[in-house]
Amino acid sequence: MSTNRPRPTWIQVVVGLFGAAAIVLLCWIGVFTVRALLGTPELQSFITTYPGGAPIPEGTKEGIPAFVSWTHFLNAFFLVLIIRTGIRVRTEKRAGGLWSSKKVKKRRMSLALWGHLAVDVLWLVNGVVFVVLLFASGHWVRIVPTSWDVFPNALSTLIQYVSLDWPTEHSWANYNALQQLMYFAIVFFAAPVAAVTGWRLSAFAPKSPAWERAFPVHVAKRLHFPTMLFFVGFVIVHVGLVFATGALRNLNHMYAGTDSVSWTGFGIFSATVVLMVIGWGAVRRDDWIARPAKWFGDVRLMKR
Ligand code: HEM
Repeated sequence: MSTNRPRPTWIQVVVGLFGAAAIVLLCWIGVFTVRALLGTPELQSFITTYPGGAPIPEGTKEGIPAFVSWTHFLNAFFLVLIIRTGIRVRTEKRAGGLWSSKKVKKRRMSLALWGHLAVDVLWLVNGVVFVVLLFASGHWVRIVPTSWDVFPNALSTLIQYVSLDWPTEHSWANYNALQQLMYFAIVFFAAPVAAVTGWRLSAFAPKSPAWERAFPVHVAKRLHFPTMLFFVGFVIVHVGLVFATGALRNLNHMYAGTDSVSWTGFGIFSATVVLMVIGWGAVRRDDWIARPAKWFGDVRLMKR
């Protein structure tokens, strides 16, 4: 991969700094405007009517079951590998290795693309396991909205977040409405869009004119990359909020299955970050991708 990017000129640096300062200023204006509006009786009564929670039926078991912790970790792990191999697929000028199917001789691809598809499949299997157990266990009530009130409540949570006067969280018992909507969107909307558009772009999709009319490849291409950006945006905000709203307690919820404040969850989370860094490095190497790729077809490594 080329690293010979031109150095920015000093004008670009100054423009960049002014741009960053303008964004910070706009954010502050946003915070103070929302704070001023929150003083009005209309917005006060809106927040009182819709405090921002997403209550779940009485008697629902509190907490995060072990299957959620495991699938949540694997999801993040595979997502990191998908993004890394996806970057390789988009930027690599010359393949470092080729994989070809033993059954369908015409089916050939770079090892980077094979790696991308392989982690896609693992990510999908993990997602299906999560959704099946979600409904089998009854945990679905936490992330699937069942009332239209979720929309005004989510708006109320957003207003409270923007005002920096954050709502009290009881996420061990139930998420707030904005969390519920975003978790629902990521699991039941973004993930299927990523999977379907990815399949359409892959060598496994049918090539007939009828398919091209029904679901053109260029439409899939237009959707696939922005979906990845949506995932990245979600993760930045999600992890940012996990850390800003009681990091140790939140991490204990997801990584240790308890509602206490201790360093256990943080320790497990840190170990998963180490695994992600190792995975990130592993999928950059064609000789590593080649090992599992050989089980499914013929592999030829190119001299660099
Ligand atoms: C590695 C960074 C991540 C950290 C530290 C993290 C942390 C957390 C925590 C602490 C919770 C529980 C929130 C609470 O109890 O208040 C949670 C829930 C959730 N996270 Fe993440 N997360 C990460 C990555 C991701 C990614 C990559 C996705 C999806 C693309 C994701 C999707 C979700 C979903 C759907 C839930 C709700 C799970 C349920 O209760 O069924 N997270 N996360």
